[in-house]
Amino acid sequence: MTTSLTIATKPIAGQKPGTSGLRKKTPVFMGPHYLENFVQAIFDVVGAKGKTFVLGGDGRYFNDRAAQVILRMAAANGAARVIVGQNAILSTPAASHLIRLNKTDGGIIMSASHNPGGPHEDFGVKFNMPNGGPAPEGVTEAMYERTTVISEYHIVESQDVDLSKVGRSDLAGMIVDVVDPVADYAALMETLFDFAAIRAMFAGGFRMRMDSMCAVTGPYATEILENRLGAAKGTVVNGTPLPDFGGMHPDPNPTWAKALMDEMFGPDAPDFGAASDGDGDRNMVVGAGIYVSPSDSLAVLAANAHLAPGYKAGLKGIARSMPTSAAADRVADALGIGKYETPTGWKFFGNLLDAGRATLCGEESFGTGSDHVREKDGLWAILLWLNILAVRKQSVAAIMAAHWAKFGRNYYSRHDFEAIASDKADAMMAALRASLPGLAGRGIEGMTIAAADDFAYTDPVDGSVSQKQGVRILFSDGSRIVLRLSGTGTEGATLRLYLERYAAGPEGLDLDPQEALAPVIRAAHALAGIADFTGRSEPNVIT
Ligand code: G1P
Ligand code: ZN
Repeated sequence: MTTSLTIATKPIAGQKPGTSGLRKKTPVFMGPHYLENFVQAIFDVVGAKGKTFVLGGDGRYFNDRAAQVILRMAAANGAARVIVGQNAILSTPAASHLIRLNKTDGGIIMSASHNPGGPHEDFGVKFNMPNGGPAPEGVTEAMYERTTVISEYHIVESQDVDLSKVGRSDLAGMIVDVVDPVADYAALMETLFDFAAIRAMFAGGFRMRMDSMCAVTGPYATEILENRLGAAKGTVVNGTPLPDFGGMHPDPNPTWAKALMDEMFGPDAPDFGAASDGDGDRNMVVGAGIYVSPSDSLAVLAANAHLAPGYKAGLKGIARSMPTSAAADRVADALGIGKYETPTGWKFFGNLLDAGRATLCGEESFGTGSDHVREKDGLWAILLWLNILAVRKQSVAAIMAAHWAKFGRNYYSRHDFEAIASDKADAMMAALRASLPGLAGRGIEGMTIAAADDFAYTDPVDGSVSQKQGVRILFSDGSRIVLRLSGTGTEGATLRLYLERYAAGPEGLDLDPQEALAPVIRAAHALAGIADFTGRSEPNVIT
């Protein structure tokens, strides 16, 4: 027996979703009515009656309990059907795919991406639209508005739905379809990539290390890499999703994926290494003895995508976020296809993908993807790399060297200054913005400033304008400095300083990036007065 209940509630302050949904400390999400209020606000805005949704998450602490609440609320709000990943697990790209594949009315993803998970760490809920992509600002803003006036929510009283078994059941008249979280995603990957060629490469002794960081890609990577592609058992490490990610910080970068980096730079390094984040949308790739920056990875994938069956007809265009290096632009120019520079955040790629203007997209923050879903996709990027390696039969180092020899090299690095006082960060950015009109023509560190501005973006599809997306200082030799404040940090402000310098070659293509960038780094500190304003002369994370 199930009874539908209407529960009286009151608004809870601060339920404002960002571009990646609503993210808070887990105990906050577990507080009275907290999850329920937000989920009701979602259903109030998008409507639930007669609709079909996808539901899943990255397996972090509270994922299983939250899924039961969301299912009961979907039923009470009149949803017709929810497709839920077994054990409430779905990677973000797999959820995006299921939303599209089943032509549903959207989906709810439970994740705080690369943030640590556990009883005292982070939890999050986000809504994705019927196109499979994150809800745009207008929709998330409406959800937030709704949370400020909410007075009741609807939930059925029932036993837990058994999410451990694949199959169909009924919850108060709503169909619950528990699906294998991996199967449809793996099938999609088989349509995009030459699995036979990759299988032959593994059979020939190619060795790989995949670090799933105790997060959601474990089951996906094990099924695809080990079971379908024949990679050696044990290729996938940290392959079981754990509620606290085994205490790891599931963010695939050289700092947090240090064990992988050590192995890839060690004496017995495998041919290829990769890691992904909490919800499986980010990726890092490494060759034996060589780290591939995400900006370079996007450029190499773009230049070689035609080697994979899913992209053999060529690319329609390449989009990158503004702070991402211009390496991909050089590939777009060589291919004679469109190139797009968007503000930071995956949501800005959605229109370009939907309109068929861009096929590949990427961000310097370890995000790469294509028009196969509407989220960035970690395993997809890793499989495209494998496909390229299988066809070219060269090492990662050789492929990088050949790429730089052909296109030149965009030395690139991001310096993060985390947890600085917000007022100091704001004062620094304000002073920098005020100085921009006088910068053009000025010489510094042997370079000349060609232009300086605050990046504004006009969406070529819907004409919407986004202002103040980051300060850019462009030099006449192609070097560039970008400064912006993070929109996802949780403690004080995080200043991101993005540094780029172009070397045309043939000389100077194999420098250490920090050395190659030294004059650009000095110029950035001098122009922005980082130490004077923030008291910090060194970043605490360098990628
Ligand atoms: C960061 C990244 C950005 C990415 C976002 C969500 O945002 O820099 O590229 O889209 O996380 O994964 P930021 O903290 O810089 O605002
Ligand atoms: Zn993520």
